[in-house]
Amino acid sequence: MTTKILIADDDDLVRSAVEKILTMFDYEVLAVESGVKVLEQVNDEFDVIILDINMPDLDGFQTLDGLNKIKSEIPVLFLTGAGSMDYAIKAINLGAYDFITKPIDDIELFHVKIKRAVEKRHFQRKEKNYKENLEKEVKEKTSELADKNILLEKYSHQLENATVQVMSTLQAAMEEKDEYTAGHTRRVTEYALLLGATIGLSSDDIVTLERASHFHDIGKLVIDLTCIQKPGKLTADEWALIKKHPEVGANIIQPLEFTKRERSIILHHHERLDGNGYPKGIRGDEIDLLTRIITVADSYDAMTSRRNYRRNLSMVEAISELRRCAGTQFDPELVEAFAGAIVSH
Ligand SMILES: [Fe+2]
Repeated sequence: MTTKILIADDDDLVRSAVEKILTMFDYEVLAVESGVKVLEQVNDEFDVIILDINMPDLDGFQTLDGLNKIKSEIPVLFLTGAGSMDYAIKAINLGAYDFITKPIDDIELFHVKIKRAVEKRHFQRKEKNYKENLEKEVKEKTSELADKNILLEKYSHQLENATVQVMSTLQAAMEEKDEYTAGHTRRVTEYALLLGATIGLSSDDIVTLERASHFHDIGKLVIDLTCIQKPGKLTADEWALIKKHPEVGANIIQPLEFTKRERSIILHHHERLDGNGYPKGIRGDEIDLLTRIITVADSYDAMTSRRNYRRNLSMVEAISELRRCAGTQFDPELVEAFAGAIVSH
């Protein structure tokens, strides 16, 4: 690629002399007679600009100022008369790359200075290209990473769903062995989701609520609960055993990193608003909203389902029982929302 040099001098003799020398060195030259022309003609293809200082309209300094304003990065060399060192210094301070004294006596020195400026320009271009390529590469890599992240997220969701599915299947198979628990999980989940939808939970919360409802009693499957099925009151020891199921259940799903909130809900699904529940005796707002939803759904199903040792309550009786225990056992707002929803269900 040929090297292009733009030169401006209002003195015809100087201009054509410099042009001839540069052409002799095989440079492609555009010679103009004013700073205004420089600003008109300049473009990124030029490698070096040579400016005279004293020119009508724009002088060399004003022209350089104009070049700086359009963010030209082309190295500028000033042509200064012999002895005008002050001008040369001013030019360098303004951002000129170098200066050449005229008349040009030492052609070798002149050539060296031009070659240095051209080299600087080449280096500049290389650096710019390198930066642009780097930016392009970074952009490409970033978008590749984003794509991979989306894929990973998808896989991780699939894995979560598959795990939940396997657990559900196992749980359902085990529940089948007990007349009461079969169906309880399904109904509690249904009631909890009804209440969750009624109070306008977010879709993320609904997913958590569904999983937590599904596995709220999973702890019962590994405790020997033959006692539940027997008629009559439970002994203190039997009660103590039953009361372990929230902690056992929470432990069962503990290895699943994505079920952190579900684990806490399972652990606390027998807590009461007044702090008299188990296993921790936490109270009020300490109990997660989703947990409070499940306690309402769980109790409602327990009341309305037939057990060996007692008859089941009707819907109206169960609602009035929920209301009686609102404020002590249940969240009153949730009880009312549930009562409204279940009646019109
Ligand atoms: Fe339970």
